[in-house]
Amino acid sequence: MTLWYGGDYNPEQWDPDVWKEDVGLMQRAGVNLVTVGVFSWSSLEPAPGQYEFGWLDRVLDLLHAGGVRVDLATPTASPPPWFSRLHPEALPVTADGVRLTHGSRDTYCACAPAYREAARGIARALAERYHDHPALAMWHVHNEYGTTCYCSLAAERFREWLQTRYGTLERLNEAWTTAFWSQGYAEWADIEPPRKTQYLVNPTQYLDFRRFWSDELLAAYLEQKTELRKLSALPVTTNFVFGGWVPVNHAQWAAEVDVVAIDHYPDRSDVGAEEQTAFGADLARGWAGGKPWLLMEQSAGTLNEGHRLHTKEPGRMARHSLSHIARGSQGALFFQWRASRGGAEMFHSAMVPHAGPDSRMFREIAKLGSELPQLAEVAESNVEADVAILWDVECWWAMQGTHLPSSSLDYLAAVRSAHRRFWHAGITVDFAAPAADLSSYRLVVVPSLYLISDEAAAALTAYVESGGQLVVGYFSGIVDPDLRIRSPGAFTELLGVRVEEFHPLPDDSEVVLSSGGRGRLWSEHVHAVSAEVVDRYAGGVLDGKPAITRRQVGAGTAWYVSTELDDAAAAQVFELSASPVEIVRRRSGDTTWTFVFNHGDAEFSVPDAGRLVVGELPVPAGGYAVVRST
Ligand code: GAL
Repeated sequence: MTLWYGGDYNPEQWDPDVWKEDVGLMQRAGVNLVTVGVFSWSSLEPAPGQYEFGWLDRVLDLLHAGGVRVDLATPTASPPPWFSRLHPEALPVTADGVRLTHGSRDTYCACAPAYREAARGIARALAERYHDHPALAMWHVHNEYGTTCYCSLAAERFREWLQTRYGTLERLNEAWTTAFWSQGYAEWADIEPPRKTQYLVNPTQYLDFRRFWSDELLAAYLEQKTELRKLSALPVTTNFVFGGWVPVNHAQWAAEVDVVAIDHYPDRSDVGAEEQTAFGADLARGWAGGKPWLLMEQSAGTLNEGHRLHTKEPGRMARHSLSHIARGSQGALFFQWRASRGGAEMFHSAMVPHAGPDSRMFREIAKLGSELPQLAEVAESNVEADVAILWDVECWWAMQGTHLPSSSLDYLAAVRSAHRRFWHAGITVDFAAPAADLSSYRLVVVPSLYLISDEAAAALTAYVESGGQLVVGYFSGIVDPDLRIRSPGAFTELLGVRVEEFHPLPDDSEVVLSSGGRGRLWSEHVHAVSAEVVDRYAGGVLDGKPAITRRQVGAGTAWYVSTELDDAAAAQVFELSASPVEIVRRRSGDTTWTFVFNHGDAEFSVPDAGRLVVGELPVPAGGYAVVRST
């Protein structure tokens, strides 16, 4: 049992003398895993088919001698300049038709056969060279799959994907509602990716392209995985990107990686960064199906707020790392080990900053590195949560279309706001897929689930009938997976309400409820057909109409909340009270590890009797503690 600790290591920027110093410092910092080679393609293959493995041999040998394991990457997120020169058709094209040039990273189209062949080639060459290197712990394919392309090669692949999905043009025309605006397709060849067009793009065409792109990238990943698997049985992973951007269906991809790994860079400098940390970590655990996962990248010393770097205050790096571990991560890794000596990310923080090891940053890194081995046994435990929030990336993509009744409807924001409320109450939540078995949860929250399948609607009904508490948010159950309007809505019967009209609100206005609560962003003309009215709109055009309803169904209860409630009103519905501390429990058999993070101003005494493993008791303001009890 080990918790991994380390980060991306990009030694090709440095002389071999620095590599030796690096390994010494890694030992001082308790580093046990580094990701090597993520962006090394031009150093590994400086000309087509001409490999230079000597430097990597030396690096891996040095790491092995120093007891540091390696997560060896395939460098396919950044093809070298020669590749773009020889295969200009593999450079990506944006939605408005601009073909990008070399000079950054990720300048490739995953649909270009030449790219796919080259990617398989370098993966194969690495597997042949290093499959039995003793330093190897796992393989890391590519980096943050997501780059999108709208070129003609992508268009061809998209058409093939559509043929598989729909079989006939008749079926596609129906799903895309192409009778509207004269879009009926008579030839597959007429279908294009959703490139820039005159006005609003067809929403289902847009959503299908997102689905297709995720599948296409998954195929590209699997080709590399196959090359590695031919020679190696070690775990294979790829790092999922998360932020305001989820370019692929990570929940679906999770089945194809041996370890779910995420990169996580909160973009707030206040306590919002802690809350985002919890959000991303809980989501990663959801993608992993409740199993442990790995924080592959985070920033050591800074938070990116807008275009400004905010230095993490003393102790914050450790809190963020441990919060990920509390929520199921099998360790804490960073981008990157040593700050870059130049290049686009020269000011990105690192475990070894430009100031060198005689720095607060490195001392904090080394301190955390000395604490993690004491927590090693949590690697085999599971996180406890009895509340779930539904998360569906297809619903998010669908709501990124340009056709919604309010441009302020924001799926990610609605899910985050639900999560934030539980986080502030110190309650750990899981994220679950809409059609998942939810029977272990006492409460399930469904924020703005605009798109829903029949299967998911049935699963939610079964959950309530067998005793669950379900809270459905506004703008839910509106369309099927083809984005065709459901009439009646998917939740009409379960909730016992009929929604007659939407009343989207201007950004600067609110609605008041008879309880005194407030709502913003959205309101609806709701009829309580067989539901009890819990709260009503007060004043305005919806005066006296139901705003929040509740219906007993079988042994459970189904609530409907037709507006974006303010925190106080939401706290009442969910029976939440604010907590200054974040408490997360991981359990294995009879043993529980209680992680406590004190975000308040006063010290906090931990009620669980047990042995302090790391941190301090009582937990000082801004501090943390992990207590083990049996
Ligand atoms: C990640 C990426 C790293 C590095 C980092 C900077 O998304 O995988 O290579 O660019 O961001 O924050």
